[in-house]
Amino acid sequence: MTLDISFVPAAHPRSDAELAEILANPGFGTHFTDHMLTVEWTPEQGWHDARVTAYGPLSLDPATAVLHYAQEIFEGLKAYRHDDGSIWTFRPEENAKRMVGSSHRLALPVLEPDDFVQAVDELVKVDQRWVPEAGSEKSLYLRPFMIATEAFLGVRPSEHVTFMVIASPAGAYFKGGIKPLTLWLTEEYTRAGRGGMGAAKTGGNYASSLVAQQEAIAQGCDQVVFLDAAEGKYVEELGGMNMYFVYADGHIVTPATGTILEGITRSAIIELAGKAGHQVEERRFSIDEWREGVASGEISEVFACGTAAVITPVGTLKWEGGEVQGSTEAGPLTMEIRQALVDIQYGRADDTFGWMHQVV
Ligand code: PLP
Ligand code: COI
Repeated sequence: MTLDISFVPAAHPRSDAELAEILANPGFGTHFTDHMLTVEWTPEQGWHDARVTAYGPLSLDPATAVLHYAQEIFEGLKAYRHDDGSIWTFRPEENAKRMVGSSHRLALPVLEPDDFVQAVDELVKVDQRWVPEAGSEKSLYLRPFMIATEAFLGVRPSEHVTFMVIASPAGAYFKGGIKPLTLWLTEEYTRAGRGGMGAAKTGGNYASSLVAQQEAIAQGCDQVVFLDAAEGKYVEELGGMNMYFVYADGHIVTPATGTILEGITRSAIIELAGKAGHQVEERRFSIDEWREGVASGEISEVFACGTAAVITPVGTLKWEGGEVQGSTEAGPLTMEIRQALVDIQYGRADDTFGWMHQVV
């Protein structure tokens, strides 16, 4: 613990009645807690002026670098309340390490993993009444992010950087509940190329996914799937989720290309499925293997995973001029792994992997 974090409580926190109304139906990413955490960085001072203050708008000079050149990175993790009232995050040190990797790619300063975890813990402690009750599949979604805050229009790494954590109570990411998503395969847009930013969690990757996602919606699909940029042949991921393919013989494949964002949920599933006796392959996985495998029945289940969406079954895949119909219901292994994961997160199963981090 090295950050010295000051605290100025919000003058007007939400009333208990307002909070109860929000937590009854939190949605995703629309309501924010009473406080936010901020830390500043300059080359001379390093990280300094860590503070928790009332949640509210930022005042930024119109020349602030992040607004022009998108020097920005972020993370996403959740805090879960257990039956005894305690509050836990899931593998926060993995998010901290991934943010270090993103910092390197975006020429941003490194926030030490211990400081990242301390900062997230601090906001969760202050706003602990915002963590939804145990027994629901609700959580407090935490969004740490780092932005270039120097007011300067030259193109070079910013010499003033701000790290913040905000928090938002979360229900299901997809409104329809656990039912298979229909995916649109974009053959026009890619999200990452060799040497690009695909493995970093940076806003630009999401900005570039939006037009492809719009196309998916226009095609009557829920989400877009990206292929590799070099050959247009290998499955990468969705705009905000990694992918898994379950074979009828029990083995499981998840794409590995070097240009995807390697999810913390994805890595947990590799361990959970391995423990359950499934052989898991991380390898390049072609779009033809997907189409042919589902059509022949060799692939029995497809699912997507991420912090926000947890584990979500995938049904039909559509592309320009064709489709392959997948299952209309969540597959048994998809649901088994999903259950195993959420049981650990909500403290209903033994945390044999040591993934949970107690905050309160
Ligand atoms: N891929 C992308 C592009 C994402 O935005 C996310 C979400 O964070 C993931 C994968 C899944 O990562 P994680 O499981 O760490 O949330
Ligand atoms: C997450 O799962 O944390 C994501 O980042 C997905 C999306 C909300 C950007």
